[in-house]
Amino acid sequence: MPTWPDAAHAARVEAELRTFPPLVFAGEARDLKGRLAEAAAGRAFLLQGGDCAESFAEFHPNTIRDTFRVLLQMAVVLTFASHMPVIKVGRMAGQFAKPRSADTEEQAGVSLPSYRGDIINDIAFAAEGRRPDPERQKRAYMQAASTLNLLRALAQGGYANLHQVHRWTLDFMGRSPWAQRYAEVADRIGEALAFMEACGVSPETVPQLKGVEFYTSHEALLLGYESAMTRQDSLTGEWVDTSAHMLWIGDRTRFEGSAHVEFLRGVLNPIGIKCGPSTEADELLRILDALDPGREPGRITLITRFGAGRAEAHLPALVRALAREGRVPLWSCDPMHGNTVKSGSGFKTRPFDRILAEVREVFAIHRAEGSHLGGIHIEMTGQNVTECTGGAMALTEEQLADRYHTHCDPRLNASQSLELAFLMAEELAAERKRLDKAA
Ligand code: PEP
Ligand code: CO
Repeated sequence: MPTWPDAAHAARVEAELRTFPPLVFAGEARDLKGRLAEAAAGRAFLLQGGDCAESFAEFHPNTIRDTFRVLLQMAVVLTFASHMPVIKVGRMAGQFAKPRSADTEEQAGVSLPSYRGDIINDIAFAAEGRRPDPERQKRAYMQAASTLNLLRALAQGGYANLHQVHRWTLDFMGRSPWAQRYAEVADRIGEALAFMEACGVSPETVPQLKGVEFYTSHEALLLGYESAMTRQDSLTGEWVDTSAHMLWIGDRTRFEGSAHVEFLRGVLNPIGIKCGPSTEADELLRILDALDPGREPGRITLITRFGAGRAEAHLPALVRALAREGRVPLWSCDPMHGNTVKSGSGFKTRPFDRILAEVREVFAIHRAEGSHLGGIHIEMTGQNVTECTGGAMALTEEQLADRYHTHCDPRLNASQSLELAFLMAEELAAERKRLDKAA
């Protein structure tokens, strides 16, 4: 949380934000909670992804469109493999505030306040811009509003047509060195679509194939902003944080008695909780008692982020503790935040193989524990950036400098994201066959 240099100024901005229209509606947050309850029960899969930090500089319709498009492509592959609906949730339209471990950053002997996301201060290392400026919250709100407006239009206006989404994937296949590996899944999706069309099921006859449901989410970090966006549902009198459909608590603010737990306890939105290596089962249970005393299905998504090779040491204990208490959360895997490394040239990066390795480990652990992995949480973009190494194009450390644009953590680019979906499809299909056999 920033210390605003002028607290009265921050209070004035928050008062103004309170008069701004809500971005989402309580009924939508409730609908998403219902969908997530299905995923917790093993009948749907959550795909949550987008920037680590949205920025004012990267705000552009094509950026929004391309990230949305890659999420849709991933969703088609995952739906096909799992035979389950995939719930699409963007880290979009409000993912601005970043937690920092250190208050200040030092460069060449100069110490300035850390960059905390465009909603608070400027990324450039200069004294003026690094001063937290509450006015930025209004610009972030406006950007979130227009991003969400475009997302709603793309989701419902015809862009998300299932046949079209598959054609984009075929284009991608034409360029990927690993195309052979994905060909079977892609061909079978194409055949399924052709078969459905021959039976009269097409976007023209079945409107559902023309559009998708798309939800938004971000880390609920900046509590002044979140609180200003919290409104009372006129239908039920309950409180809802209207800045996004789903909010999550980060690994640094998820502790017993934290202001963030206390705030989210009071809103009806579905809540994510990041669980890292320092998450203790007992404390997590007490946090869950605070956030979800009524054990409402779909209320809690536990997003685990341990790092490749490290889930085994932490995850089984959490799964067992929750099972003992009869709690059924949605388990999701964030394979990004435990796998950040520094490249030789000094860039923060994430090797694709480690990301994939953590996903596979977490699938296996849930299988062994009798729980199941019902979601994935990734940092990605539809742009052709060079921030994570590896993948089919074998992006090298030397290439990181070419198009390294992130304002915070390294993101999977468009091809790496879709590749991850194809590789996850193998896991999901195996899981489905295993369950079919057991049934
Ligand atoms: C994030 O999701 O960008 C993040 C900071 O994650 P975590 O809280 O898990 O470190
Ligand atoms: Co991040």
